[in-house]
Amino acid sequence: MIKIAVLVSGNGSNLQALIDADLSGKIVGVLSNKPEAYALTRAQQAKIATAVIEHKQYPSREAFDEVMHQQLLDWEADLIVLAGFMRILSKKFVKAWEGKMLNIHPSLLPHYKGMHTHQRVLNTGDILHGCTVHYVTAELDAGQALAQGVLRVSHQDNATTLAERVHKLEHLIYPQVVEWICSGTLQPADTGVYYHGKLMHEPVQFCKF
Ligand code: GRF
Repeated sequence: MIKIAVLVSGNGSNLQALIDADLSGKIVGVLSNKPEAYALTRAQQAKIATAVIEHKQYPSREAFDEVMHQQLLDWEADLIVLAGFMRILSKKFVKAWEGKMLNIHPSLLPHYKGMHTHQRVLNTGDILHGCTVHYVTAELDAGQALAQGVLRVSHQDNATTLAERVHKLEHLIYPQVVEWICSGTLQPADTGVYYHGKLMHEPVQFCKF
């Protein structure tokens, strides 16, 4: 059984979606760099082990990452799921978990890497928006994409409504991708992902129009 560790910094609605999904893997621990993160309460309510490692208490990014790394080894994690974890990771940490660490980003990558994605989509006047589950690599928001949730931007949308709508898609696709990995359905490949035996060169898309 795949052992999953979830890294969080805030509300943890994606963590909740993973807890609520009937995953064939097991969430063995939830790690937060912020003691006040509501995600920790969600984990405790689900009787999942938690760890708080405050980045402010370490002299460097590398020192903080090393302590996180040790905690993940202690939990014997096979898969690291970033769910609203608001820290940039050191190259060494990323290398150690390469191919075993996922992130979800609130845009249709490779568009809108970084912050404030909803407002940027509105400013550009895009018709489509969404979220992407991807492997984490040293370059920010640039690892291989596995799945995308796509929605149509409406004239009534603002940054708040878009954030809510994208979140709903996140809660759909993140547990789905994690389950693909837990069940062995998805195998990482150099040029794409195998999805139900078929090699997909583009991320699998789930559309809510
Ligand atoms: C999500 O919007 C996700 O795309 C981004 O951080 C947010 C986390 O939200 N990486 P939550 O804490 O899971 O509610």
